[in-house]
Amino acid sequence: MSEDVAAAWADLPTPERLPVRTMLEEFETVNVLAPLVRCSKLPFRHLVSLYETHVTHTPMILAEEFSRSQQARVSDLTTSADERGVFWMEPRRRPPRVSDTDALDALAALRLADRDPDDGDDPRPPSYPAPTPVRVTKTLHAPRVTSRLPPSPTPPSPDARLVRGALVAQMASPNGASLADAAELLAPHVDGLDINCGCPQRWAYAEGIGCALLRRPELVADMVRCVHGRMGWDWPVSIKIRVDPDLRRTEQLVRTALAAGVSHVTVHGRTRHQASTEPVSLDKLAFAVECVRGEVPTVANGDLWDLADAQRMRAQCGVHGVMAARGLLANPALFAGYDRTPVHAVENFVNLGVDYGFIFSLFHRHLAYMLESHFVKPEKTYFNALSSSVQVVEYLQTRGLDFGARRKVPMWDARRGYSLF
Ligand SMILES: Cc1cc2nc3c(=O)[nH]c(=O)nc-3n(C[C@H](O)[C@H](O)[C@H](O)COP(=O)(O)O)c2cc1C
Repeated sequence: MSEDVAAAWADLPTPERLPVRTMLEEFETVNVLAPLVRCSKLPFRHLVSLYETHVTHTPMILAEEFSRSQQARVSDLTTSADERGVFWMEPRRRPPRVSDTDALDALAALRLADRDPDDGDDPRPPSYPAPTPVRVTKTLHAPRVTSRLPPSPTPPSPDARLVRGALVAQMASPNGASLADAAELLAPHVDGLDINCGCPQRWAYAEGIGCALLRRPELVADMVRCVHGRMGWDWPVSIKIRVDPDLRRTEQLVRTALAAGVSHVTVHGRTRHQASTEPVSLDKLAFAVECVRGEVPTVANGDLWDLADAQRMRAQCGVHGVMAARGLLANPALFAGYDRTPVHAVENFVNLGVDYGFIFSLFHRHLAYMLESHFVKPEKTYFNALSSSVQVVEYLQTRGLDFGARRKVPMWDARRGYSLF
C-alpha cells in the first residue's frame, strides 16, 4: 500500500451515528433490508451491509416471548459491533416528491375514489389528534469499537458524509406493555424498533399481531406511546404496514400512528390478501405516503429487484427510502448495482456464515436463493440435495469459488470492509 493511500485511510473522519429518521431525511439514497423471518439474521445482514444497504432489520421477533424468556432472546437476536456498514452518503438535494406524471394522475384518481360521499361507512374520526412533536437526537448511544471501513477512503463528492449504517429490531406484539419490555432489553443493541403491522399469516392474525393491527389504529398508537413512555420520546419507533383494500383505513392508521409519534413509516404496497406473486400497487403505496403529509420520512416496499425498480419507486411514490426483501435474498449486492449475485458476495457470505456460525438449513437456503440465477436446472437439483456445509463449500470450490483468496485481501480492498484479521 502506498503512503498516500495509507494516509487517506488514516484521515477518515469518525462515522456519524444517526437515527434512521435522520438518515432518511438528510440523505438522497437510503436503501433498506426488509425484516425477513429466519432470513435477515446476522450473517445475511452483515453481507448486505457490504453492498450499499444502509439500514437492516432483524426478522420479526415476538415481543412477549422475547421479554419473558432468555432462550427466546438468545435465539432471536444476535448482533455484532461490526455488522453495520460504514458508507459515504450524499446529502439530500430536495424533498422527495412524486415526479412521474402518470403516477400523479393515478394518485389524483385514488384521492377522488377514496372520498366517495355515497359511501356511508367512513371509518375516519371527525378530526385527527394533533401530531406529537418528536425530538430527534443526533447520537443514539456511545460508540462501540468497530473495524468497519467505507468502500473507499475518498468521498464520492465534497459534500458526502461518512455515516454508520443502522440496525432496527422488528417486533410483533398484541399489546404495548410487552413491546415496551422488549424495547428496554433491546435498546443497547439496536437503533430502533419497528412494529410489524403486515404479517398476513393466519396464526399471526389469530394472535392479534401483524395484519390484525391494520384495522386497529388506536392499539398501534397505544403501543407506540407505551414504548415512548418507557424509553423516552426520542427513542425511534416505526411501523411497517400493508395497504388496506379500503384506503381510508390506511389513512386512519397512518394519521393515528403519526399522532402517537412514530419516527418513520414503511409501506408494503400489497393488501393483506395479496400474495407476493401479485404485483405491488405503487399507486396505493403513493396514496399511503401522501397520508403522511411529509411529517415523518417514508419507505416503500414491494417488488424491488434492481436499481431501476428503486428509481421507479422513488419517482412514483415520493418516498425517502426503499426497502427490498426477495430482491436482496436473490442478489445481496442489488443496491451496489449488480444485476445478479456477484461471486465475491457468495464468498463473503460463506466466510461470514462460517465465522458467525449459521445453522446449515439457513446457510444452504440463502446460497440456493443467491445462486439461483447462476445455476441450470440439474445444478439446482444437485445443490439442493447437499446436506452439509462441507459439501456445499466443496461444491462451490469445484465451481471456481476461492474462499481462501477472499480472506487474504486487506480489509480496504475493493468495496468489502470485512476482515477478521
Ligand atoms: C422469507 C420472508 C420472510 C418475511 N418475514 C417478514 C417479517 O419478519 N416481517 C415483516 O414485516 N415482513 C416479512 N416479510 C415480508 C417482507 O418484509 C416484504 O414486505 C415482502 O416480501 C414484500 O417485499 P418484496 O416484494 O421486496 O419481497 C417476509 C417475506 C419473506 C419472503
